Amino acid sequence: MDEFAWFMEQFRLLTGIDLTRYKRPQMERRLTNLRDRRGYRTFPEYIEALKLNRALMDELLDKMTINVSEFFRNPERWTQLRALLSAMGKSPRVWSAACASGEEPYSLAMLLLELGLHQHPILATDIDERVLQRAEEGIYAEPQIRGIDQNLLDRYFLREADMYRIREQVRKQVQFVKHNLLVDDYPQGLDLIVCRNVLIYFTDQTKQQILERFCSALNPGGILFVGSTEQFLGMNLGSLSPVAPFMYQKAK
Ligand SMILES: C[S@@+](CC[C@H](N)C(=O)[O-])C[C@H]1O[C@@H](n2cnc3c(N)ncnc32)[C@H](O)[C@@H]1O
Repeated sequence: MDEFAWFMEQFRLLTGIDLTRYKRPQMERRLTNLRDRRGYRTFPEYIEALKLNRALMDELLDKMTINVSEFFRNPERWTQLRALLSAMGKSPRVWSAACASGEEPYSLAMLLLELGLHQHPILATDIDERVLQRAEEGIYAEPQIRGIDQNLLDRYFLREADMYRIREQVRKQVQFVKHNLLVDDYPQGLDLIVCRNVLIYFTDQTKQQILERFCSALNPGGILFVGSTEQFLGMNLGSLSPVAPFMYQKAK
């Protein structure tokens, strides 16, 4: 076993996170850079330090999960989603998987409120408890709220000094739960799964398994919405077919 493979095994024992399911070159580069920056020359040295130092571990978790997000990320896709949801004509059961700090599920909540389709709470999950805490707080700085239309900002956020707090009306539409896409059970009976900008980090084999599990989790006619760099080239889509760029619908 090479040193990075050994590190991945030790990391799994410490955290339960299986790094072998993520694309190795990017992960190895990112984590080796971080290790070097912190002054550890080998992975065994680094792992010993990680066991003793919570801040070092938090930093590593941050690096491996990449939590960047935006409200209404890729706005043209959201216009398309709005049209598909309106055509569904019912209040959808929604899962925002790998939701990071809440921008995505809150965007969904605002969209559903706008469409008058907000009956069921949105399930929003992520592997990283620290981002989920930030998501629950729902407080964002100026650069983070740039993607939000002024009209929505006025109605769904409270200005507090130079920060913006999501209003309770939107917050209570979203339920945040810790969930690991690689090992935990998936919720079922969904009409919309939004899983964006995380599948790119997984190996093709893992991506295929997740795709199949998403497909079983969807109701007939349900939609899977993925990130704007994510493609399923050469993968078996099962009963999903493309309905719009980066959106797939399960056969009715
Ligand atoms: C780049 S963010 C995507 C945020 C949001 N979906 C978006 O597109 O703006 C990727 C998120 O995936 C989460 N993640 C990474 N591995 C995961 C796993 N195995 N299960 C669930 N979430 C995971 C990370 O914690 C991070 O918050």
